[in-house]
Parts: sequence; C-alpha cells; structure tokens
Amino acid sequence: MSATPAQPASRPPSGLVLGIETSCDETAAAVVGRDTAGAPRILSNVVLSQIEEHAAFGGVVPEIAARAHAEAIGGILRVALEEAGVSLGEIAAIAATSGPGLVGGLIVGATAGKAIALSRGLPFVAVNHLEGHALTPRLTDGLAYPYLLLLVSGGHTQILLVSGLGRYERWGTTIDDALGEAFDKTAKLLELPHPGGPSVERMAAGGNPARFPLPRPLRGEKRLDFSFSGLKTAVRQAAEANAPLNEGDVADLCAAFQRASAESVRDRVSLALARFRERYPDLPDPALAVAGGVAANGEIRRALGDVAGEHGVRLVSPPHALCTDNAAMIAYAGLERWEAGETDALSAPVRPRWPLDETAVPLVGFGKRGAKA
Ligand code: KG4
Ligand code: ZN
Repeated sequence: MSATPAQPASRPPSGLVLGIETSCDETAAAVVGRDTAGAPRILSNVVLSQIEEHAAFGGVVPEIAARAHAEAIGGILRVALEEAGVSLGEIAAIAATSGPGLVGGLIVGATAGKAIALSRGLPFVAVNHLEGHALTPRLTDGLAYPYLLLLVSGGHTQILLVSGLGRYERWGTTIDDALGEAFDKTAKLLELPHPGGPSVERMAAGGNPARFPLPRPLRGEKRLDFSFSGLKTAVRQAAEANAPLNEGDVADLCAAFQRASAESVRDRVSLALARFRERYPDLPDPALAVAGGVAANGEIRRALGDVAGEHGVRLVSPPHALCTDNAAMIAYAGLERWEAGETDALSAPVRPRWPLDETAVPLVGFGKRGAKA
C-alpha cells in the first residue's frame, strides 16, 4: 500500500472511521471508533438491501445494482453520520470496499469515499471486502491474532488462518459452488422462496434427514477444500425421481441436504482445527470464528460448536447482522489499517477480483460468483 498525499504528518492514536460498502447488493455506511479503553465501538451501521430491486430476476443484476448504489449512497452516508451523532469534521479517515465484487458498485462506493477524503483532506483506505469479514471477530469479540476463520456466504466458502493484519493463509476453498449458493440453488429447484438458506432451514425443521441418502463430498480427504455442486445435483436427482413432490418430500429433501452440508463442513473444519492446534499448540485462547450469511444456520452452527469443543477451541459467532455484508466491518478493517499507518493513494484502483491470500492458487470455479463475497 502507498501513502496518500492527504495523510496528515502526525495523527492521534485512534479516531473515527467512516466505512462504505457497495460490493454487491447492499449499500452500507458505518462509523466505527474505539472507546477510551481501546475496545472497538460501532457508532452507526446502516445497511440498505436491494433484494427487492433484483427479486424479479432471481439474482443480482450488476447494472441495476450499480444504479441503485449511486442513487442511495449519498443518503446512506448522511444517515450513518446522523445516527452516529457526528459530523464529517469529526471523522479521521475514510474506508471503502475496493474489491472483490461487482465493478459498478465498487466504483460508486470507492469514488464516494475518495471524494470525501479529497474534499476534507482525510486519509483513504481501500479495503478488501474479505478482510472486513476476516476481522469481524476482532470488532465484535476483541479476538486476538491468530485465529481460524470459516467464511461461508453466498459467494465464498473458505477456511482462513488469520495470523495478523494483512496476514491471511487460505487453507481451503470451494472447488465449485459456495455453500450459500448451494442452499439457494436447492431452494430454487424445490420452488422455495429466495433467499434460499432460511427457506431450506425452515422446511428442514419438519423433515427426516435420513430418508434420502446424499453424498458427503470430499469427506475424509486430506486437502481442506469443499465441494457442494454434487450434493445439489443429488438433491435434483432425488427430486426428479420422486416427482411430483408433496410438502413432506420437500421437507425431507431439505433436511437431508442440510444434514449433508453440516457434516461436510464439520469434516473439513475438524481437519483444519487439528492443523491449527498443531501449528499453535500453546495459544491461551484458541478460537474458531465464523462469518457469512450461512453462519445463521442452526444445524451448521451446532456442528461447528461440537467440532470446536472436540478440539478444545472456542467458537466465536458474531451477531447475524455483522456476519452478513455490512459497512461496520469495512470501517473496522479501515481503522486497523489506518492505525497501522497503511493508507492508500486516491488513485488506488478498484479490484473486482482480489484474493485475500495472494499466494493461494485459484481453484476450478473459485470466484465464479465473485460478485458476492
Ligand atoms: O453473507 P451473505 O449475507 O451475503 C453474501 O453472500 O455476501 O450470505 C448470503 C447467503 C445466501 O446464500 C443465503 O441463502 C445464506 O447466506 N443464508 C443461509 C441462512 N441464512 C442466509 N444459509 C443457510 N441457512 C440460513 N439460515
Ligand atoms: Zn460478504
């Protein structure tokens, strides 16, 4: 990262950061700082979802998303400052998601952030959206480095070692669909409403997970990657073989899919935790943190709690609103970066593809839905 010309020669040890998130279908802004003891504090966290704008198309339409961000960003920034009870004059730095994501949305958010930084003479931080997710357990639970992170969202399924600011090792990723994507596609083929994850979980509650035997992709393999497209295909084949489906059939298929997903996650995470414990045998408070929308799933959370317990590791699951896309996580990542003296030039580009671990080899299908992180 290079120093921005706007960087003040000397800055206080901490201050308020205004964060902006526009990488997919949420327009979000937040103000984050620290209390007198140095603990992170969220002063405001405003998220405007575009779900309705995209509903008729069954997915996020990039051009619609970019326009909606452009229309909403000014108002959202105003509300975030109002709710925080501060004026722009009290903000010390601006942080904006600069990748990965949909290029139109990224340009809207990053340009808004740079314009404020330029007009106010403030430092600007170009934040990697995935770093926002990765650092969230430090924002919510004050977790110390290092820790293991499971990121399970609509666009990513990754196991990351977070060993310091900017120090991330991707230990595993999906070789095809992200887990949230598999939930969404399963819901779609069973004609359940979008977003699919909560619909599948609701139906699964009344179903029998043992009626349909489904595969457990990659179970027992020593590589730490995930695969979910075979599971989704097996659900489709079972659905076709039993058509027309009644409500009980759908419930049983959802229960079987959710059980297979949870067991697959559990198997991969168990292996990762064993490696983590081996790498850091003497940590006083070893922790596994989760992030991403799928972390809301009760059965998956239970599986993670169990496997963490088996390895003597604490499970940290931030509140749902901070697991899904938001700007508080971007402001917080910006705060850590700014405090470390790492700011960016206003010429910093947006990066639709921006892996957190630049050394990790891209796998087949990785980033297929790079828009959603
Ligand atoms: O992190 P997120 O809000 O957005 C991004 O993908 O960035 O995650 C959304 C994903 C969707 O695929 C949604 O179906 C899934 O998280 N999801 C769930 C649940 N709630 C949301 N998946 C399973 N069970 C849930 N309860
Ligand atoms: Zn995300």
